[in-house]
Amino acid sequence: MKAIAAVNLKGYIGKGGDLMYSIKEDLAFFARTTKGKALVMGRKTLASLPGGKGLKGRTNIVLSRSMTEAEGAAKEVFVARDVKGLFELLKAQGIADSELFVIGGGEIYSLLLPYCDTLYITRVLSEDEGEVKFPDITPDFILSEGEVMTSGALRYRFDTYVRSR
Ligand SMILES: NC(=O)c1ccc[n+]([C@@H]2O[C@H](COP(=O)([O-])OP(=O)(O)OC[C@H]3O[C@@H](n4cnc5c(N)ncnc54)[C@H](OP(=O)(O)O)[C@@H]3O)[C@@H](O)[C@H]2O)c1
Repeated sequence: MKAIAAVNLKGYIGKGGDLMYSIKEDLAFFARTTKGKALVMGRKTLASLPGGKGLKGRTNIVLSRSMTEAEGAAKEVFVARDVKGLFELLKAQGIADSELFVIGGGEIYSLLLPYCDTLYITRVLSEDEGEVKFPDITPDFILSEGEVMTSGALRYRFDTYVRSR
């Protein structure tokens, strides 16, 4: 599976239950990279999406111990109770591991990082303080650094990390 995240220089990804940055080019990258794929996210990240619902044009899976199946159906998501349940759901739905994107938040990136082979990290070149962090990326990943781009007052890079072992 792959993870996709916008992370600043201090490792922060979120604050006040929401994203810290809204970079038009990054939102477009997220949309085209995940279109037609399956997404897995935490219950709090689902709550931060428009209408608190799964994203259109994708299969949405939410990890939650508290959300009922009926609540999940109303929010247009599948619910998995734990990692084992996630893998069972992938199998039952015929979703290949290569088609699955981990889209956050902090708890779920930490939980699923050991299963990821590729990380698409939009590195926002800012040292703002946040509340939720992306986990430390182990030396098992090799970084391909993107060129520095600018969006309004923000500078960022599209970095890719690929697992080497
Ligand atoms: N910058 C980015 O790219 C990016 C991307 C996504 C999110 N974010 C930000 O990240 C923040 C949210 O992250 P977060 O860490 O607070 O929450 P989260 O990871 O989105 O969701 C946490 C919830 O996931 C469920 N969960 C966690 N571990 C589980 C497990 N082992 N099994 C089953 N369910 C499990 C629990 O739900 P229950 O309580 O229901 O059991 C838990 O409360 C927000 O600020 C959001 O905007 C940033």
